[in-house]
Amino acid sequence: MLNSFSLEGKVAFITGAGRGIGATIAEGWAACGAHVACFDIDGEAAERTARTLRALDVKAIAIEGDVADPLSVGEAVDRTVRELGGPHIALNNAGIAHQSPAEDLEPADWRRMIEVNLNGVFFCAQAQARVMMRNGGGSIVNLASMSGRIVNRGLAQAHYNTAKAGVVHLTRCLAVEWARHGVRVNSLSPGYTMTPMTARPEVAGARAEWESQTPMGRMVRAEELVGPAVFLASGASSASTGTDLVADCGFTCW
Ligand SMILES: NC(=O)c1ccc[n+]([C@@H]2O[C@H](COP(=O)([O-])OP(=O)(O)OC[C@H]3O[C@@H](n4cnc5c(N)ncnc54)[C@H](O)[C@@H]3O)[C@@H](O)[C@H]2O)c1
Repeated sequence: MLNSFSLEGKVAFITGAGRGIGATIAEGWAACGAHVACFDIDGEAAERTARTLRALDVKAIAIEGDVADPLSVGEAVDRTVRELGGPHIALNNAGIAHQSPAEDLEPADWRRMIEVNLNGVFFCAQAQARVMMRNGGGSIVNLASMSGRIVNRGLAQAHYNTAKAGVVHLTRCLAVEWARHGVRVNSLSPGYTMTPMTARPEVAGARAEWESQTPMGRMVRAEELVGPAVFLASGASSASTGTDLVADCGFTCW
């Protein structure tokens, strides 16, 4: 591996690390040498990921909490500092998905979506950056989505898409504010990716249609997001901040 891609000795804070993209990137970062705090609203799932990482010979802790609760997030970052050090790098990945025609969308569903998928990213980035600034810098990767740029054909999810567009622009705003403190902030925008989120009954039947709408004719595999996430977290992307890296098998070209 080129040295600039190494995460040797870095401490990572990953939200939504219990399964799906978060768990896969946690393994990928650990394979590149990072110690990881695995944060998830599902504490048992976070512990499962942490166990897998410890088998890779890195330090890993599991922390149960809700990204939409700034107190829970602040305590989790403090615990990471006490038990692992850092954090030097972070992945703000926790998210939820839900479908409803906009005219029927319940205010509670709109609010929860924005709370988790947008406010949660801000609360996490803020808590992480406060520590990174004190330590001379760091790299934050926010999980956005191609849905922050396009409206998914056939999916009624105005609240999800709006939150993701917010994550892309929030990333640019934070990148500009924190550049002078050595904290880089970038986003990663996958296309349709095979995870429990896309296997949920609400959308499970849509796979063939998604694939037919994609130039590469297939969904993204979660493992294919490891490379882009390592690039953004590591020194290999030292000149990149405020960027949105799309990994969508060409979906947004059409
Ligand atoms: N799967 C896709 O096709 C796809 C595409 C683009 C973007 N994304 C985004 O990638 C991220 C991960 O998606 P995934 O497919 O792995 O989803 P997933 O549902 O498989 O996993 C999400 C994880 O986040 C955790 N989580 C949910 N709410 C939380 C909260 N309030 N606090 C802490 N943890 C919480 C869940 O417990 C779960 O472990 C999400 O932000 C999603 O919007 C997914």
